[in-house]
Amino acid sequence: MMEPRIGAPISRVDGASKVTGEARYAADHGVPGLAHGHVVSSEIAKGKILRIDTTAALARPGVLWVFTHENAPRLVPPAPRGESEEVAPEGSAFRPLRNARVLYSSQPVALVVAETSELARDAASLVDIEYVRQDHATDLRRNLKRAHKPRGETAPSSRGRADRAWREAAVQVEAEFWMPVEHHNPMELFAATVVPDEDGSLTVYDKTQGVQNVQRYLCRAFKYPEHRLRVLSPFVGGAFGSGLRPQYHVYLAVLAARALKRPVRVTLTRQQMFTFGYRPALWQRVALGASADGRLEAIIHEAVSETSRFEDYTEHVVDSSGLLYQCDNVKLDYKVAKLDLYTPMDMRAPGASSGVYALECAMDEIAFHLGIDPLELRMRNYAQRDQAGDKPFGSKELRACYEQGARRFGWGRRDPRPGSMRDGHTQIGWGMATGVWEAMQEPASAKAILTAEGNLRVSAATADIGTGTYTVMAQIAADTLGLPLENVTFTLGDSSMPDAPVEGGSFTVSSVGSAVRAACEKLRRKIVREARRSRDASRWSGDRLIKVMRRRRIAVMEAQASVEPSGKRERYSHYAHSAIFAEVHVDDDFGTVRVTRVVSAVAGGRIVNPKTARSQILGGIVWGIGMALHEESLLDHRLGRFMNHNLADYHVPVNADVQDLEVIFVEEQDDIVNPLGAKGLGEIGLVGTAAAIANAVFHATGRRVRDLPITPDRLLARAPVISVA
Ligand code: MOS
Repeated sequence: MMEPRIGAPISRVDGASKVTGEARYAADHGVPGLAHGHVVSSEIAKGKILRIDTTAALARPGVLWVFTHENAPRLVPPAPRGESEEVAPEGSAFRPLRNARVLYSSQPVALVVAETSELARDAASLVDIEYVRQDHATDLRRNLKRAHKPRGETAPSSRGRADRAWREAAVQVEAEFWMPVEHHNPMELFAATVVPDEDGSLTVYDKTQGVQNVQRYLCRAFKYPEHRLRVLSPFVGGAFGSGLRPQYHVYLAVLAARALKRPVRVTLTRQQMFTFGYRPALWQRVALGASADGRLEAIIHEAVSETSRFEDYTEHVVDSSGLLYQCDNVKLDYKVAKLDLYTPMDMRAPGASSGVYALECAMDEIAFHLGIDPLELRMRNYAQRDQAGDKPFGSKELRACYEQGARRFGWGRRDPRPGSMRDGHTQIGWGMATGVWEAMQEPASAKAILTAEGNLRVSAATADIGTGTYTVMAQIAADTLGLPLENVTFTLGDSSMPDAPVEGGSFTVSSVGSAVRAACEKLRRKIVREARRSRDASRWSGDRLIKVMRRRRIAVMEAQASVEPSGKRERYSHYAHSAIFAEVHVDDDFGTVRVTRVVSAVAGGRIVNPKTARSQILGGIVWGIGMALHEESLLDHRLGRFMNHNLADYHVPVNADVQDLEVIFVEEQDDIVNPLGAKGLGEIGLVGTAAAIANAVFHATGRRVRDLPITPDRLLARAPVISVA
């Protein structure tokens, strides 16, 4: 029998189905009569379609139809924010094929549907479009001055008199940081297979982080009652935020399937994976002032990120700077600049991963100027209370992260002088940083069904985007009812299941996990009532419950529960924290950086499954390596288009870039954050990692590269800020 308990390092319950190919992804559903759609992408960044000629494409045998703005059915216009989409920014959502306007390069402008995907792709090249071009702007650097306060967002809260405190501080640093666009690039391409039933109702297999979000969106756009449109997404090959909003492929697939009355699949190409949301380009300025003994007197953090013309996408970039350290004078400012690009979207640890990068690099700089060890500086400014939210923390074991991480890494042996460690042609550097991510909780529900044979089935309309949801939810259910894990099945990814939020924000365990626990507890109470015992039966195990069911000849019992954040929870601030220590080797002549060692010590509340939890943090660290050294979507501003839209030119860390990574989970008790005491781990592994690496590069070389990624050309172009011994 497998150990069912919360805290056991269970291997993924869906692992075998994935490696054997049994798991079906959105484009894997074979359906008789399936037609294939290929998207035609706009060649211009801004303007209008003057003429669109589909004659040649339609003449190809096997081509069924070409959908354009001229013939696409008139549909309901996009709803105001929040009405049809769970995570839409303020503004007017983009809808494909609505009119002749082109709002960004590679916008979908036609869908060719044919008997095979090869035919559709070939015919797509024959669609002839004449455009009227207008001048476009896609360069954030040239448009910083036009930034505005984002609509529909409350400004991050400032306190004290930061500008004055900064001017009067004994030691000051001020630095600007540029970060490039990054694209999510999950392995699985975005795809949807849409199957119309006899009665006209639709089954939609989609790649998404939220089946009910897609369902609501499609139902509103195409005027379907929810019971006639079902969205399924049992397996997702990575998403990282790119699947939080419904994407144009699913919209076009539904449009085509309805019009043609045939099953239709639309799969994007890898190039087209660069034609919707992304982590926005970002400018930041951080100014820190400290007393001579290293107390922070002022924190100033300003940021401008880009957004589209039609929506104000925002991130909480600067907010962590008001939270992470004890400081009475904080000024935070965040603006967005409109460009002729698609709307950015959440990408793993949105906001915090970018903002904490700048803050934690600036902390390293001021530590250097003060002559104080970077870790000691953080200890001296440790925040016991959330000054930004003016609340106590529900729990905060960041100090233990610093201590345990430092010990494991050997930080105490660090020579503070940059350039003091070397091995032949290689300079060696050690850097550290702090990470923080809010521990959120959303309303969620789940249903639990127990049979007299002792099998427990639990379900919720959540997702498993590779994070381990199937496994940890089964563990929580098995643990709650004291059943063997083999007897428990958790199912997800079906819009007809009990309501759950999109899988994102690291809130799935806290939200859905709490609902799973509540549904199982409710089920136990129902069965105990059947036993007609009045004394406390809150600990009755599965065996005992099954005996009751058999005795009373009950074949199946079920219970459904919904859980919302508790009132007590609202009186505290909830964050996961981390301390990251990194070692880099920098080649003297080539400026190449290798991350040879990372220790990430994480305080994330109770760890439901140390094995899947560790994988989340490892993935986050690898993202941090990519953010620091590799990832960058390059725009040709003359065309307004991303040029390195493939995995040969868009660099992500590969196995050779990933060396010795170590994860420590620090003990953290918390009975306020949610009934499970778990904070969520999907994003904390990334936050701060790029800063730890950049700080290690400075320690190795004495060169401070603030703009990411730290490529050899940038590193070699920089003179050391100090003379290296
Ligand atoms: Mo994550 S960016 O909330 O999927």
